[in-house]
Amino acid sequence: MSPSITIAVRAARAAGDFLLRTGERLHELRIELKGPNDFVSEADREAERRIVEIIRRAYPDHAILGEEGGAQGEIGSHGARWIIDPLDGTTNYLHDLPWYSVSIALEIRGRLEVGVVYDPVRNELFVAERGKGARLDDRRLRVSQHTKLAGAVIGTGFPFKSQRHLDAYTESFKAVSLAGCAIRRAGSAALDLAYVAAGRFDGFWELGLQPWDIAAGVLLIQEAGGVVTDIRGGDQLMKTGNVVGGNLRVHQALMDAVKPHLGPDLSA
Ligand code: IPD
Ligand code: CA
Ligand code: CA
Repeated sequence: MSPSITIAVRAARAAGDFLLRTGERLHELRIELKGPNDFVSEADREAERRIVEIIRRAYPDHAILGEEGGAQGEIGSHGARWIIDPLDGTTNYLHDLPWYSVSIALEIRGRLEVGVVYDPVRNELFVAERGKGARLDDRRLRVSQHTKLAGAVIGTGFPFKSQRHLDAYTESFKAVSLAGCAIRRAGSAALDLAYVAAGRFDGFWELGLQPWDIAAGVLLIQEAGGVVTDIRGGDQLMKTGNVVGGNLRVHQALMDAVKPHLGPDLSA
């Protein structure tokens, strides 16, 4: 394991263990509204603080982009930036729904090098390193071999925070559903992407995500032999947050189903 993976895993486990313990006293948590349907609790903030502390101790000069703390530090000549979602699935967490994750990625000069998604409830650790594959604990991950939408299980997320893409999403949902898929909205995009890498989901699509929701999961899918792109099939997904992923065939089938319903404002 490279030193940066060791740090990412240590940080993800520390945050996940903290979230699990804190989940036993949910009623005591202070919760705030950041935007429409967008909640943050002191658990999100403290989990991020713990992650950042571990990363900073190992790499004091690396830049950090955290959902709660924003951008911290300059991207230096090494080009390293950590991208962190300390609690992906806050709505689930605050409702005691046992489906959430910690997502940590390391990007160097704009290229994802390390991705870790940790599910503390099931104690499952998904790890990817560029060029070295993706693993769930000790098992090597491969995307599913399903070849079409009929009979596929597809993960997604509803645009519940910003309604901007609601019509495009609703129409694409209809198309994917009519193609004969089982669709799951589990509530943690990072974990959805990890499940695509593990072949548990055959594919995934969602509009309007943030870099911290997807950075680690994108590398997991790539290293598990899958394809993950923006909504038009390009590479702008970290900028637009519009994501389609799966194995080669399911990815293409999802693109074919979704594309006809995208307006001109969804150009990538
Ligand atoms: C959310 C989850 C959810 C997705 C939302 C995200 P958060 O992240 O990933 O599955 O549908 O768009 O914002 O707020 O729980 O970190
Ligand atoms: Ca998130
Ligand atoms: Ca979050």
